[in-house]
Amino acid sequence: RATARLHPLPLLVGALFATYYHLLVAPAPSYYQSLFLSLGSNDTAAAHLRALTVRPHLAGTEANALAADHVVSTLSSLSFPTRVTPYEVLLSYPVGRSLSLSAPGRDATAFALVQDTYPGDPYAAASAEVVPTFLAYAASGSAAAEVVYANYGRREDYAYLASRGVNVTGKVALARYGKVYRGDIVKNARDAGAAAAVIFTDPKDYTPGKAFPDGPWMPPTGVQVGSTFKGVGDPTTPMWASSEGCERVSVAKAMSTHDMPGIPALPVSGRDGEEILRLVGGDVAPEDWQGGDGAPVYRLGPGPAVLNLTYTGNETIATIQNVISVIEGKEEPDRYVILGNHRDAWTFGAADPNSGTAALLELAQRLSKLQNKGWRPRRTIILCNWDAEEYGLMLVCLVLELTHQPLLNLMSCSSRRVKRFKIRIMEQKVCMTCGWLLIVL
Ligand SMILES: *[C@@H]1O[C@H](CO)[C@@H](O)[C@H](O)[C@H]1NC(C)=O
Ligand SMILES: *[C@@H]1O[C@H](CO)[C@@H](O)[C@H](O)[C@H]1NC(C)=O
Ligand SMILES: *[C@@H]1O[C@H](CO)[C@@H](O)[C@H](O)[C@H]1NC(C)=O
Ligand SMILES: *[C@@H]1O[C@H](CO)[C@@H](O)[C@H](O)[C@H]1NC(C)=O
Repeated sequence: RATARLHPLPLLVGALFATYYHLLVAPAPSYYQSLFLSLGSNDTAAAHLRALTVRPHLAGTEANALAADHVVSTLSSLSFPTRVTPYEVLLSYPVGRSLSLSAPGRDATAFALVQDTYPGDPYAAASAEVVPTFLAYAASGSAAAEVVYANYGRREDYAYLASRGVNVTGKVALARYGKVYRGDIVKNARDAGAAAAVIFTDPKDYTPGKAFPDGPWMPPTGVQVGSTFKGVGDPTTPMWASSEGCERVSVAKAMSTHDMPGIPALPVSGRDGEEILRLVGGDVAPEDWQGGDGAPVYRLGPGPAVLNLTYTGNETIATIQNVISVIEGKEEPDRYVILGNHRDAWTFGAADPNSGTAALLELAQRLSKLQNKGWRPRRTIILCNWDAEEYGLMLVCLVLELTHQPLLNLMSCSSRRVKRFKIRIMEQKVCMTCGWLLIVL
C-alpha cells in the first residue's frame, strides 16, 4: 500500500534534483572538499605507480618516453587539455668506468662497480636496464694516484687537510656523501688540486639500522648515483630556453664552465669505500671524520693506497618530454596555481619521483570528477610532469612551459638577449622526497 502511493514522477524529479542540485545552487567549498577526499581509492594511485615504475626510466631513454605516454594518456582521458612538449637538452651517460686499488707490494684489485640484487628480487631482470653507477657530467679521463681522505668533501675539510700538511694536488680525493651537494664535493676536490674524486656512501650515515632487503637502509653495495652539474637548466643554453632551433653553446664549452666538475669522478658503495680506507695510511683522522661501528680506522693519507680511476662519459643532446595539463580558472583564469613533479628517475623511481607522479594523476582524476559535478577552480590550475630533473634541468623546464601560456612570456629564446618578465610568486612549496613542486603565482 505504501509503495502504491509513490508516484514515479516526483521520485525522478527528486533524483534529478539531488544529482544536479550543485548546478542550480553553488555548494559550499566544503562540499567539494569532502567530495574530493571521498573519491577514488588507493588502488588507482597504486596502479599508476606500478605502470610508471615497471622499468628503470632515466631521462632521455625510450622507457622514460613510455612513462610520459602513460601520463599523457591518463591526463588526456580526463577533460583537461594536455600537451607533451619535447626538448633537446644536454644529458650525460656513462660509457666506460674502471676503478682499481693497489698499494706498494700489493697487487691491484679492480672494483666490480655493480650493485647487488637480492635473492627473490622480482625486478632482477629489469635491473639489467639500470644505468651503471656514475656521476653525470663528470669529466672523461683517468687518474692513477695516491688517495687522500677528505671527510665530507667540504671546503673546511680541505682547509683542515692543508693545516695538517696533507697536499691534495694530483691525488685522488676520497670523500663521503652527506653534508654538501655532490657537485660541490667534486668541485671542492678539483679546487684543492685533486686529479679525480671518488665519493662513497658511509654506512655510518646511511645504514643506521637493518639494510635492505631486511630493513629500509642502504645495503653494503648500494651506490648513490647523481648529477654533478651545479647550474640549472640545459648546460648548452645557459639562462635561455632549449626550444627548437635555438642558439646553443658547444658541448665542449658547456662542459668547461665552472658549473661542471671538470675532473673524472665516480661514486662507490660503502663496502668499496671502507676497502679503500683500510689501505690509507698517514695520520689518524679526527673523531668526527671517522666511520661507525665495525669500520676501519680512517686516516688522512696520502697513500700508500693508490686508486686508478678511468671514466668515459657520453655528453649528448637527448630528447626529453614535459607534460602539462590545464584546468582553467573561473574567476581569475590568468592567475596560476602550478603543481607537479618530475618523472625521470636514476633507476625505478618508486619513491622519488613517481610516488609524486602517481599522486598527481590521482589528484587529476579526482579534479576531473569534481568538474563533472560542476566544480571549477577559482584560478587556473596547471598540472605539470617534468623531465630530466635528476640532471638538474627542471627549473628551466618550468619556465619553458610557462612560455606557452599566452600571458606569461617569461623568457624569449630567439636570441641570447634573455627577456625576463617579473613574476610574483605568492607561495612555493617543494617536497624533496617525491619531487613535488607547488607554486602559486
Ligand atoms: C589508503 O591507504 C592509507 C595508507 O595505507 C590508509 O590509511 C587509507 O585508509 C587507505 N584508503 C582507502 C580508501 O583504502
Ligand atoms: C703540493 O704539491 C704540488 C705538486 O707536487 C706542489 O706543486 C705544491 O707546491 C704543493 N703544495 C704545498 C702547499 O706544499
Ligand atoms: C689504470 O687502469 C687502466 C684501465 O684498466 C689501465 O689501462 C692503466 O694502465 C692503469 N694505469 C696505471 C697507472 O696503472
Ligand atoms: C652517445 O650517445 C648518442 C646518443 O644516444 C649515441 O648516438 C652515441 O653512439 C653515443 N656515443 C657513445 C660513445 O656511446
